[in-house]
Amino acid sequence: MAVEFYRHALREEDVEAVARVLRGTFLTTGPVCREVEASLAAYLGVPHVLTMTSCTAALEVALRAFGIGPGDEVIVPAFTFVATATAVLHVGATPVLADVDRETGCLGVAGVVRARTPRTRCVIPVHLYGQMADVEAIREVLADPRVRILEDAAHCVEGTLRGVRPGQATDGAAFSFYATKNLTCGEGGALALRDPELAERARRLRQHGMTASAAERYQGTKGYRHWDVVDLGVKANLPDVLAALLVGQIPRLDAQRVRREALARRYEEAVDALPGWDRPWVRPEATSAYHLQTAWAPAHRRDDALAGFAARDVGVAVNWKALPQLTFVRQRLRADPADFPVACEMGARTLSLPLWPDMTDAMQDEAVAALRAVARDLARG
Ligand SMILES: Cc1ncc(COP(=O)(O)O)c(C=O)c1O
Repeated sequence: MAVEFYRHALREEDVEAVARVLRGTFLTTGPVCREVEASLAAYLGVPHVLTMTSCTAALEVALRAFGIGPGDEVIVPAFTFVATATAVLHVGATPVLADVDRETGCLGVAGVVRARTPRTRCVIPVHLYGQMADVEAIREVLADPRVRILEDAAHCVEGTLRGVRPGQATDGAAFSFYATKNLTCGEGGALALRDPELAERARRLRQHGMTASAAERYQGTKGYRHWDVVDLGVKANLPDVLAALLVGQIPRLDAQRVRREALARRYEEAVDALPGWDRPWVRPEATSAYHLQTAWAPAHRRDDALAGFAARDVGVAVNWKALPQLTFVRQRLRADPADFPVACEMGARTLSLPLWPDMTDAMQDEAVAALRAVARDLARG
């Protein structure tokens, strides 16, 4: 049996919700986005949530709302998806890379302390694979509320650390609803904010800096509302057509997280029994969203392992090369891989195993058997 790397967990009711929007007249950002925003705000326990076209857009809008731009430095973990760093470049600020903690792969206090300068205006910890970075420890070490903390929570709607959720203890958290995410509408994202003024600014910035959205401008036959542009914004508002896919998924998130955790724990046991293999650790005080389950193959053997999974029809992926291992980042930020040994070792060894809530135990049996067989082949040379 072939085991796919990922399949979404959308249901007929989600398809029907999209059809309802299509049968109506209002397709862009409107009542369905508002419903998703209210539902996520309640789930996260954060007062303001704004839907966006992507997590990348949410990060950029947040940085603009914070007033971060040319001359400012933003600390970004050296191990993340490239969007965490490019969002900083898009607002004209400078990403400063920091190496990550070996146990979790997340940005920690040590990385922040090393990368900090008097020009540091913001830190973007990434909740890697669904486990939250320790944002409270980072806040304590920064000891300066003027340095913003913006969580890249692309992997982590459901996670908690010591009972605190993304967005609850910082200046903002950006989420992704990309095709393979735990909560998905193909492409989409959201920004959670505690501060009402920041939220109002971000709401304008996600739509050209305009003072009224389409839903507010056009009230059917009941008149028209004029609008102004008061800021340099971007175009990052999610349409209701896509938001409709999210409504029904949010109440299912917790049950799916439990299934993800069960699958992940079984992989962890399997990886832990393989000599030369390793994996990131989830701290006991964390509840991970278990977005991805990664394994670190023996040094210099990751690509052999990828070929071994392909030969056995088991879908795997690489999340990701470290930022200094990407040509653009090396050239633009003059990042030397030797300065980020933990991130670059992870980037060279990591592979992601199939993990999705509707995956059956029999499918996982196949994936685990493939993992053991691949490891055995590598050990033979
Ligand atoms: C850690 C991280 N940050 C940001 C992003 C960007 O998300 P999006 O595709 O929604 O812009 C991703 C996407 O996979 C990601 O993994």
